[in-house]
Amino acid sequence: MIEKETITYIKKFTTAIQEDSLTQEEVEKSLNEIHTYFLKITGITGFDMKIEYLAAIPAAKGKALGLNHAAQCLLDYSRTVKFLKAIVTVILEKQKKQPGKLITIFYAGCGPYAPFITLVAPLFKPEEVQFSLLEINKNSHDSAKKLIDSLELSKYLKDFYIADAVTFKVPKPNTFDILISETLDALLYRESYVPILFNLLPQFSKNVILFPENVVINLSLLTHHKKDIGYEEYEMGSVLNVRESIASCSNSDAIPSQLRDKKINLSSLDMTIYENILLDTKVHIHGDIWLYRNESSLTIPFESALKKPLQNSSLIFTYFMEPEVELKYRFE
Ligand SMILES: C[S@@+](CC[C@H](N)C(=O)[O-])C[C@H]1O[C@@H](n2cnc3c(N)ncnc32)[C@H](O)[C@@H]1O
Repeated sequence: MIEKETITYIKKFTTAIQEDSLTQEEVEKSLNEIHTYFLKITGITGFDMKIEYLAAIPAAKGKALGLNHAAQCLLDYSRTVKFLKAIVTVILEKQKKQPGKLITIFYAGCGPYAPFITLVAPLFKPEEVQFSLLEINKNSHDSAKKLIDSLELSKYLKDFYIADAVTFKVPKPNTFDILISETLDALLYRESYVPILFNLLPQFSKNVILFPENVVINLSLLTHHKKDIGYEEYEMGSVLNVRESIASCSNSDAIPSQLRDKKINLSSLDMTIYENILLDTKVHIHGDIWLYRNESSLTIPFESALKKPLQNSSLIFTYFMEPEVELKYRFE
């Protein structure tokens, strides 16, 4: 009974998201309600203290979020809503352009609730949309499979792989229209979004639509700490643009150990007035749908004090994929 009730609730919710008819309070209430349904079915709360639910899983490059954190992503309200809106919009646009054509989605890193199938599929027929899922964490895979089966959504599921998206070779990659991989954290720290794109993107057709489409990290200089009244922010532009960086790498098969350095010249600035630097993660989900500063756990800014007096004329940013996946900077 709970399954039928859940599907009706999901349809109503995802339709309302599409129509922008919910207030923030209603969005939060609905996602909390869906979370309650999902945890009843899977037994996964996202807040259990079992070590195997807390531990991150090592990938070939980077680490996959532990099961609990992956479950909690559902409750990252603006993130979930904006992804849902973008994904459903693209499916509807594709249906309009090519009526009757089956739309195929490869979803890498689905987590224990697999929200981008469980909250999307109920709006469509299985003849319209098919999903192939991949997840590195067996416990997340098992939970998502249980949820999909219980909600009677298995008819939308073509394949479900337990594998590392950093190394996985996708069978018949050219048949997919959409690739979803929300495998990232603020500052692209530790999680495998970038190495996953290096592995997966060249396998798919050039026209595949990727969610999120891109991630950009911007640098600002601050006159005071952001919490202080009257601080001023001077925007210096991007220090990392993932899609541009990937496109500028050679076509060799190997995933590079780091991306090209980005040098920010400070020599023309009066650096005595700046106290802090701020790094801002902007997630470009699709089209004009972005996640901006503090809208989600993915876009929490990072602030750090500048050493005084500053004797260097530039800041160099490097995104590493080995030995750890992380953005580092140094003064030169
Ligand atoms: C941030 S969570 C998002 C979960 C879910 N898609 C959502 O939006 O709520 C990322 C998921 O991707 C999985 N993941 C991360 N890196 C992966 C990799 N290299 N291969 C396969 N799955 C991965 C994690 O285990 C986790 O379940």
